[in-house]
Amino acid sequence: MKTTTSEMNGKGMEGRIGMPTSRVDGRLKVTGQAQYAAEFAAEDLLYGVVVSGAIAHGEISAIDAAAALAVDGVLHVMTHENRPPLPRFDRSYRDDDTPSGSPFRALYDEKIIYSGQPVALVLATSFEAARHGAALVKVSYKATSHQTDLDAVQADAYHPRQGKDGFQPPPKPRGDADAALKKAEINVLAEYSTPVEHHNPMEMHASTVMVDADGSLTIYDKTQGVLNTQQYVTGVFGLKPEQVRVISPFVGGAFGSGLRPQYQLFLAVLAAQEMKRSVRVVLTRQQMFSFGHRPASRHQIALGADKTGKLLALKHAAVAETSRFEDYIEVVVNWSGSAYQCDNVTLDYKVAALDVYTPLDMRAPGATLGVYALESAMDELAHAVHVDPVALRLMNYAEKDQNTGKPFSSKELKACYEQGAAKFGWGKRDPAPRSMRRGKTLVGWGMAGGFWDAMQQPASAKAVLSADGKLAVSSATADIGTGTYTAMTMIAADTLGLPLENVVFTLGDSSLPQAPLEGGSWTVSSVGSAVKSVCENIRKKLFTIARAMPDSPLAKAGADEVEWTGGRVQLAGQPDKSLAISDIMRSDGLHRIEETVDQSPEKKQKQYTMQTHSAVFVEVEVDEDFGTVAVKRVVSAIAGGRVINPKAARSQIVGGVVWGIGMALHEETLTDHALGRFMNHSFAEYHIPVNADIPDIDVVFVEEHDDIVNPLGAKGMGEIGIVGVAAAVANAVFHATGKRVRDLPITLDKTV
Ligand code: MOS
Repeated sequence: MKTTTSEMNGKGMEGRIGMPTSRVDGRLKVTGQAQYAAEFAAEDLLYGVVVSGAIAHGEISAIDAAAALAVDGVLHVMTHENRPPLPRFDRSYRDDDTPSGSPFRALYDEKIIYSGQPVALVLATSFEAARHGAALVKVSYKATSHQTDLDAVQADAYHPRQGKDGFQPPPKPRGDADAALKKAEINVLAEYSTPVEHHNPMEMHASTVMVDADGSLTIYDKTQGVLNTQQYVTGVFGLKPEQVRVISPFVGGAFGSGLRPQYQLFLAVLAAQEMKRSVRVVLTRQQMFSFGHRPASRHQIALGADKTGKLLALKHAAVAETSRFEDYIEVVVNWSGSAYQCDNVTLDYKVAALDVYTPLDMRAPGATLGVYALESAMDELAHAVHVDPVALRLMNYAEKDQNTGKPFSSKELKACYEQGAAKFGWGKRDPAPRSMRRGKTLVGWGMAGGFWDAMQQPASAKAVLSADGKLAVSSATADIGTGTYTAMTMIAADTLGLPLENVVFTLGDSSLPQAPLEGGSWTVSSVGSAVKSVCENIRKKLFTIARAMPDSPLAKAGADEVEWTGGRVQLAGQPDKSLAISDIMRSDGLHRIEETVDQSPEKKQKQYTMQTHSAVFVEVEVDEDFGTVAVKRVVSAIAGGRVINPKAARSQIVGGVVWGIGMALHEETLTDHALGRFMNHSFAEYHIPVNADIPDIDVVFVEEHDDIVNPLGAKGMGEIGIVGVAAAVANAVFHATGKRVRDLPITLDKTV
């Protein structure tokens, strides 16, 4: 069984787990009532506009703010020279997503460590005055030499220091990959490269900081975690948690860019404290390119196989960029060791430091890069041994995690291959490159697999049931557009059998029960499990009361013999033997039942590898004369455990596929290495797919049961959708043209 886009029609059943359900916050969003960080009003608000540094490395020799200060409405220009005291220890600047090293500190001193670094904040009574003032600030520099070219420093790459929670270094070599490679009949040796890319959410990073009479702060921040923002602000400014409340009810996309507190937050708080007034700082689109990006990466892959395609040796060495002040690390090559059955494997991952801001997690960080290289190389092997790409993957299918020997908690990747291929019509593919065409247009079909982790973090949730049958559930998680509000509302409504409209879920407030950063595709798994558990506790209490009620039809029923539905609890299948939740509460004189739970992953998870999987099939057309590539069809088959909300899950996968097409064909942040500066920092010149670039995307969710991954059996859909897509597109381009492009993006100059 599977849920496809065409079968999504859950009218009447909206709100039950597994039923396509429209966003509960959709109306607020489309009517403009949803408020974002830059939209909260404050009395006497000051507007801060950031002045960005113009060199990549060196020192500020002078700042002349006189002209800016002469602008009507400009009150102050904050720089490293006049800022109030700050903690001397960079440890104070650490947050939940800080890699090892020394976090960037804005306006700390005269040193410039990357191009675009904030060097001043102009504060004015209007945004226009602040912006005009910012244009008039004259900054003089003493530039020293810089290096922003990854290819120039690859030889200096090193194994990164550990430090970030959850980072798994590559496993030790197994077998003897070099010897096996020499003996293998077939060798595929290839190098792949990916460029710098930027997140570019629709909403710019913004913070509105309000100062209360007692000096405590209320901060509206664009963030993937209000508690992370709170922790950062208390650390840097020496405040107590009760003095800092962070609120973030809506986020206009983040994709990882809001995992770490960004410098607009720091500057807004610094200015609000200095001016004793509320301050708003919003970055410009160009400044969105100045605080983290997907790192450029270089991959060397060697595959050895017998002539049937059986893998005998696999080597994957990757080098990615980091900054000089932090070791940004992500899991890039490990996927290559776990994905396929192979006895001789060597994996290596290094970083090379450049004069740039530290790279930053961006949708499926690491896997997006590593799996692109692996799944491209697998396609090269399929071509070399004349084996169908799907058959090659089935032949080398890993039933256990090859890195650890652990079983998978579940792995329906075979079903992804089979159902995806069937839906796509893969069986009609002529394997020879350049064999399929429509007139002067070459047609290519390519596929790839995708891999991502299914993770759970500790999370808490609170639920309050009122006598009128209304349920309020809350947790300090985020909804970065992914559908958290809806998924949590559904889980709560489903657990207690309440109509969806009786449940309100609140998030994005640091005063709520703790939740992890919204990232890693773990929000449903972590917060959803807490929501389920807290509602089960309420259900238990209600059931105890219900059984004791006079003439209770449920007096002798066990908890597993009843159903909770329509705001009532009934003997299974017997609506006439039922009690309304509101009557149960009234019978006990209860006005409310309140429960809070702290939910942690179960220990049994440690014995398993928990991953989501995908198989993505792509058709491209390549113009034979111009070399332009157009993606015409995509089928993405996903094994992600139980699907809570197929409508939102489909949106997540579609978004991932769109981004994968962008990665394959469009996206590339270009650096002028002479200036050490990103040059195309705008939507005019940083290319992303537009509607005309995106065909119909067919999403198939294969059935997958998983009792290990969390109490919901849901693995998370936020990231798996992008993984593998770029490889599938690149493989399709090879099939169409016979030309293997190994450096992304595949622009027309590379295909002809
Ligand atoms: Mo995601 S890159 O974990 O926000």
